[in-house]
This record gives sequence, C-alpha cells and structure tokens, in this order.
Amino acid sequence: MNGFSGCKNHPTEHSRDYRNEVSLEREVESLRSEVSEKYQVGGMIGESPAIANVYRMIEKATRGDLMVAIQGESGTGKELVAKAIHYASGRKRGPFVVVNCAAIPKDLMESEFFGHEKGSFTGAYARKIGKFEQADGGTIFLDEIGELDLDLQAKLLRALQEGEITRVGGNDTIDFSARVISATNKDVVQMIREHKFREDLYYRLFQFPVPLPPLRERGQDLLLLSNYFFREFTKSHPEFKGKKLSTEARRAIAAHSWPGNIRELKSAIERAILLSDSQEVGAADLMISDLTTISPWSDRMSLARAAETSFSSPRVERTQPESRSVSTPISRNDFDEEDISLEDGDGGIVSLEDLKQRAVERAYRLCDHNVDRAAVELGIGRATMYRLLRKFDMME
Ligand SMILES: Nc1ncnc2c1ncn2[C@@H]1O[C@H](COP(=O)(O)OP(=O)(O)OP(=O)(O)O)[C@@H](O)[C@H]1O
Ligand SMILES: [Mg+2]
Repeated sequence: MNGFSGCKNHPTEHSRDYRNEVSLEREVESLRSEVSEKYQVGGMIGESPAIANVYRMIEKATRGDLMVAIQGESGTGKELVAKAIHYASGRKRGPFVVVNCAAIPKDLMESEFFGHEKGSFTGAYARKIGKFEQADGGTIFLDEIGELDLDLQAKLLRALQEGEITRVGGNDTIDFSARVISATNKDVVQMIREHKFREDLYYRLFQFPVPLPPLRERGQDLLLLSNYFFREFTKSHPEFKGKKLSTEARRAIAAHSWPGNIRELKSAIERAILLSDSQEVGAADLMISDLTTISPWSDRMSLARAAETSFSSPRVERTQPESRSVSTPISRNDFDEEDISLEDGDGGIVSLEDLKQRAVERAYRLCDHNVDRAAVELGIGRATMYRLLRKFDMME
C-alpha cells in the first residue's frame, strides 16, 4: 500500500530511477505535512452516551473502506476523529495527510490536490507532488469540504470516481489508493439546495457519515475534558503545579454553552491558568459568558466578573424546583449543617469512606438523582459516580 502506485500510461522515461525519485519526493512531501503533528491514538476523552456513539461509529467505519464524512460544529473534534479512524484502520502505516479546503486560494487548489508538472503554469518551477499522491497507502483528510468551489468539486468527483488523478499540466493518470475522509461544519444538504454543493459529490463523499455532537450535549464530558486539559497544561508547565479549578470555576464551566466547543474549552482552561493570581482558578479567569454569540472581549471581561459574583453568591432558595438545570449552582446553603459535619455521632472522627458516602448521597439527593449533574458537582467522572452509587447501594 505504501509504495508507488504506478501510472496507467507508462511513458518511456519511467525508468527505475524515475520511480525512485518520485516515491522519495512523495515521502518527503508527506513527512513535511506531518512535521510537528502530535498524533494521539485513542487520544479522545469522553464517556458520555453521545461520544460513546461516535466511538462505535469510528470502530464500524474501520471495518471497511467507505468514504467517511464527519459533520460537526467548529471545535467538536472532527480532525481528531479522522485521525482515530486512520490509526484504527489498516492504513496507519501510510501517512495521514490533511488538505484544508478553506485555507488554499482557489486557483492553487487543484495543484494542492493533484500536484503539477514543472512549467505547467507561471511559478511552477519544479514538479510538485499533490496531497492525493502523498497520501497513497494512508488517509487523505479533506477538511472544510464545504468551502470547495464548484469547479474543483467536479474535478474532485472525477478523481474519486476513477480512483486516479492527473497532475496539473501532466498527461499521465496516476492511481491513488488513499482512504478519503472529509469534514465540514456546514449544512451540506442545504448547500445542495442552494446549488453550492454538487449532489453527486455529496453521495460519493458521505458514504459513511459520522455526526459529532456539540460539547453542550455531552454531559459529564465537559468536566472530564476540563480536568484533562487542566492536567495536561500544568504537566507541561510545572510552574503552575498545585493550581486547581475552584468550585465556582467548575460551575461556570457547567453553565456555559461552549459555542466554540472543545477548542474553546481548551483555550479557556489554559488561559484561566495563566490569568489566575492564586492557587485556585476562579470563574472570572475563564473569561466566558453565557452568550451564545461571539462577544467583544471587553464585554466578556465584565460578564465573566459578573459570573464570578453570581457563581460564588451563597443564596439559592431551598424551595428550588424539582429538577435543577445545569446552570443552577448548588450553594452551601442547600446543605443541612449535619450533612457536612466532620464528626461521627459521638463527637469522634468520621472516616474518609463515610465522608465520601455522605458526599455522594447528598449530591445525588440535591441533584434530584440526576447522575450526570451530581458527578459534575462532585468533580468526578460519570463512571466513577456510578461506581460509587453501586458501592453505597444507592442505585435505583
Ligand atoms: N474528545 C476529545 N478529547 C480530547 N481532546 C479533544 C477531543 N475532541 C477535540 N479535542 C481537542 O479539541 C481541539 C479541537 O479539535 P479538532 O481540531 O479535531 O476540532 P475540529 O472539529 O476539526 O475543529 P474546527 O472545526 O475548528 O476545525 C483540538 O485541540 C483537539 O485535540
Ligand atoms: Mg478542523
């Protein structure tokens, strides 16, 4: 799979040297594309039902070689999923090559995809190996596919249908055997209605669609991911060792809608670590607001300060409705004094195990037996919460 895939019309100059030269060029180009990429096989964090479904889809996608199309809002992890499919499939020995369809000027896109021959246009000083050739034996990831103009869509469709490409200015057709994965945050069906995306290309690319849930629909993953990014950042920046997320910050995280999804969460956490002046990272350090639209930074600053005040404000009426929304923080006053007592019945010392049980019981009760919510409030993962509920015999 990894080697030279061969030309259909073999011109006379196709000597062994030429083949070696081309395959070396391919290798260099693909290595160049991969430089500084840190592939995290299985680096996906999450255990919510929504992401568990994505894991299942990834696993099923790797059973065959259908073209996978990943759809999800910005920052939901589309590229990570594409890499997971690449590494979990038999193609992991080949390269993972990314083409960002939004980042390359329209008139250079064809050469980016398929390469060009020397002198094929002004500025083509040397032969260039395109991404499809680089990806031979591996995976080509067509990112932001919704940005591709109609002319290129037609050329891409032809290449996918035929399984071969022609370099710009070249005459030879060259087979490629890369797995094709595409991604978009656009509503492609709507684009088809508006004649901005070819229907035939859609059916070709979307053979195996994988929808990615937005972070706000991933329940307990929010906290898991927050802890993960916090840990990773402090691990790689030991000067921040010992810092931790305050309860207010965790509540602010749970209440925010995260329109920029995991990318937004990651940078909010890292920024908050840098901004915080104490060992406890506060809600204001996160600089997030409840707004679902992008807001000017100046607004964010003031909203974040306001959020901190509200998250740390002590009073929540005890006669709260049965089901709390995630954005309703539980305050200290929700707890009875005896609930938080550190003494046992006789004024002695209470065991840690006992305290743990009381904490779990109390959170579960105050969260109206909502496991996800109780896990967020306790600062533990959902799986751990279930384990503790089973252990303390509290499962319904
Ligand atoms: N499940 C996850 N576990 C850990 N990190 C994740 C997860 N999903 C995404 N990330 C991280 O979030 C960031 C955004 O992910 P990625 O680039 O894959 O998203 P995307 O959907 O391609 O975003 P965009 O639409 O902006 O291109 C990356 O830093 C990625 O490593
Ligand atoms: Mg992306």
